[in-house]
Amino acid sequence: MVSRRGFLTGFAVTSLAVVAGCSPGRDGSAGSATGGSAAGATRPLPIPPLAASTIDAAGVRVFDVEAQAGTTEMLAGKHTATWGFNGSVLGPTLRARRGEAVRCRVRNSLPEPTTVHWHGMHVPARSDGGPHQMIAPGAEWTAEWTVAQQAGTLWYHPHPHGVTEKHVYRGLSGLFLVDDDEADALGLPGEYGVDDIPLVIQDRRFTPDGALDESAPTDVGLLGDTIVTNGIAGAHLEVRTERIRLRMLNGSSGRIYTLGFSDDRVFQLVATDGGLMPKAVPLNRIQLSPGERAEIVVTVRAGEPVTLRSTPVVERDGIDRAAEFGFDDSFDILSLRPASTLRPAAEVPATLVPMTALAAATTAPDHAFELKWFMINNQRMDMNRVDLTIPVESTQVWTVRNNDNWPHNFHVHDVQYQVLAVDGAAPPPELSGWKDTIYTAPGVTYTLAMHFADYTDPAIPYMYHCHLLLHEDRGMMGQFLVLGPGERPAPMDMSGSPHGRHG
Ligand code: C2O
Ligand code: CU
Ligand code: CU
Repeated sequence: MVSRRGFLTGFAVTSLAVVAGCSPGRDGSAGSATGGSAAGATRPLPIPPLAASTIDAAGVRVFDVEAQAGTTEMLAGKHTATWGFNGSVLGPTLRARRGEAVRCRVRNSLPEPTTVHWHGMHVPARSDGGPHQMIAPGAEWTAEWTVAQQAGTLWYHPHPHGVTEKHVYRGLSGLFLVDDDEADALGLPGEYGVDDIPLVIQDRRFTPDGALDESAPTDVGLLGDTIVTNGIAGAHLEVRTERIRLRMLNGSSGRIYTLGFSDDRVFQLVATDGGLMPKAVPLNRIQLSPGERAEIVVTVRAGEPVTLRSTPVVERDGIDRAAEFGFDDSFDILSLRPASTLRPAAEVPATLVPMTALAAATTAPDHAFELKWFMINNQRMDMNRVDLTIPVESTQVWTVRNNDNWPHNFHVHDVQYQVLAVDGAAPPPELSGWKDTIYTAPGVTYTLAMHFADYTDPAIPYMYHCHLLLHEDRGMMGQFLVLGPGERPAPMDMSGSPHGRHG
């Protein structure tokens, strides 16, 4: 068997190939294959505001989030009807420290039911915001938990079964940053919006009058020909420090990005989905499939613009119709414009946050998942069916294999996992940190280890699913309960589901 490990989700510096067809322009920007070039008239990158919060008498940090409709100038000069949290598009950045108790009050001011899920967060099932916690129009829902995980870049988005893609496409996504002392001590760029930049990367298609075009999804969902970063097309960022941290989220429906800089400079990958890595990884490309995050630190030179861009997907063995799935596309994502003098910044420490292996790579798997078409293990999602029960405080080893000629990925709620092996071998360095979503290339087996702690619920399940949102909506999702010792599944609580209460 030929190993496909050479080109997994990132590229070691030594294995860089120059990407054909993209010759850097004078300012380093790429001509864009299908999208608008960031080289022309650009607008300053909007920075989602930090969410206001209050501390109640019990010391709980309280956030108020409202899903609402509005209008956004995603394209300069055009007014697009969009949905957002506490605004017309995207949402404020929620921020809390490890150990802090948080409460999020979510009001739905949209004309249809939705949910808000805290992607990557370890939360009780009733606060997870999955398809069982529907919020009716005009209603409010409250999620509560204590932040019990390391610093990282998480996000929140709707999860109503069958229409998640539409709700996210219209603009509902926000970041949730977790802070802790360990991360603070590393001296990474950390001034929000100045040298610590949130970057929500999404692709959109517009009708001639500037409306979001929700027609004609491909088999990987709605693919756009225009990139919007933090809600706008054609963004640039004035840089005033020698190093900046980019917290990048692929918030797209089905597009896979291969992110790097126009001059192929090396950057440091410092965090993946679940937070800081054991060691910074030097790379010049990082692949992000929908739902994945990467925090990178890049060094800029005074007065020398450089462009963050996405280039064609390299790892495509076994993918049928790669061009139709956007694998050949290139886009400018963000132009960086460093000032003529830059504030000095500390180097990225070589070691970041230690991680202890949860299990040996050779551990026999507790569960195996096969991804194909809109199914996991030959079944489509059923809101009334529990697919798995997991004993609380257990460490589980799961294998995932994409047995299809489509791209898929795999996301698990409630936990962060470690990638123990890829086709039986050690994972590439960019998969050496905590993950909650992993790209699954056809024919490759990924071995994941995760620990289910703290929360049990006999009636409310968590989800695992493909995070290509059309696939998730069409049923590529399963449900699991985490049970306490001796606890048995109870009749599923369907009160918050769109299908009403089942007895
Ligand atoms: Cu980001 Cu179940 O989702
Ligand atoms: Cu999630
Ligand atoms: Cu999929």
